[in-house]
Amino acid sequence: ALISMRQMLDHAAEYGYGVPAYNVNNMEQMRAIMEAADETDSPVIVQASAGARKYAGAPFLRHLILAAIEEWPHIPVCMHQDHGTSPAICQRSIQLGFSSVMMDGSLGVDGKTPTTYEYNVEVTRRVVELAHDCGVSVEGELGCLGSLETGQAGEEDGVGAEGTLDHSQLLTDPEEAADFVKKTGVDALAIAIGTSHGAYKFTRPPTGDILAINRIKEIHARIPATHLVMHGSSSVPQDWLAIINQYGGAMGETYGVPVEEIVEGIKHGVRKVNIDTDLRMSSTGAIRKFLADNPKEFDPRKYFIAATKAMKGICKARYEAFGTAGNA
Ligand code: G3H
Ligand code: 13P
Ligand code: ZN
Repeated sequence: ALISMRQMLDHAAEYGYGVPAYNVNNMEQMRAIMEAADETDSPVIVQASAGARKYAGAPFLRHLILAAIEEWPHIPVCMHQDHGTSPAICQRSIQLGFSSVMMDGSLGVDGKTPTTYEYNVEVTRRVVELAHDCGVSVEGELGCLGSLETGQAGEEDGVGAEGTLDHSQLLTDPEEAADFVKKTGVDALAIAIGTSHGAYKFTRPPTGDILAINRIKEIHARIPATHLVMHGSSSVPQDWLAIINQYGGAMGETYGVPVEEIVEGIKHGVRKVNIDTDLRMSSTGAIRKFLADNPKEFDPRKYFIAATKAMKGICKARYEAFGTAGNA
């Protein structure tokens, strides 16, 4: 059944678990997520980005999610719009039937230019007013995603700040977070702690100076009732990285957010964990390997099945690690 994010995350807070929020662009991702959720008895958050809307179109994404709800009616599903850059975009998703939207006012309508605090409060507050009237939940963002090593937003196209960010923008301030939540009424708050979108998050396995899990604790202590959201939370699996490169890929050395650090965050108020890159890497690795091992094969279903199986493995592992399993 379709449920709001607020309802799902309130349950997660009560029982102390986190919910991975997977980006979806196609049927194979959707099936991998749902099959994994079904086998682990987990609630599901699936989210559509601007890039996904460009790739598949909003109607296809919407019906993909509705089809999942039809096939697995016993699994609670939140249909979330990822990184909306304006109230108008959020309004459109609400009209389409999304049960949750993200108004990312940390960046301007171009999705690139860091904004002022006042702008962020104003656009987020407007979306909350509109969404709550429709029973739709809202995620806001305070602080800019980006690397504490380089000050860069990351390698994802279309999502993330352009130019170099300074240290204060890269770490959400707990006092400001309290003021932001009070003024906007958001259901969930995305925070900046040194993670960034895409595969190239850290040049070395992250330590506390570049992945600020302690900052989560400080924010949670200040606003314990607010559900926190970690973006850029792919773990960049080293085994899939090796497979990609073994079968013709050329990805550079890179590290993501270790699952155990996310689990630590979940102990301190993190309830939604955004993951896209890990599914991209596992599906690409599986397809590269399948085609190399089966050079005569030309039925796309064969390699898409391999990709689905690989993504499903990641999804199940996250549902289990985050404590989502058993809570559908
Ligand atoms: O927000 C970041 C996600 O990884 C979505 O990326 O816009 O390329 O679909 P995308
Ligand atoms: P990753 O690139 O780490 O998977 O993050 C995805 C994300 O934050 C989507 O909003
Ligand atoms: Zn994000």
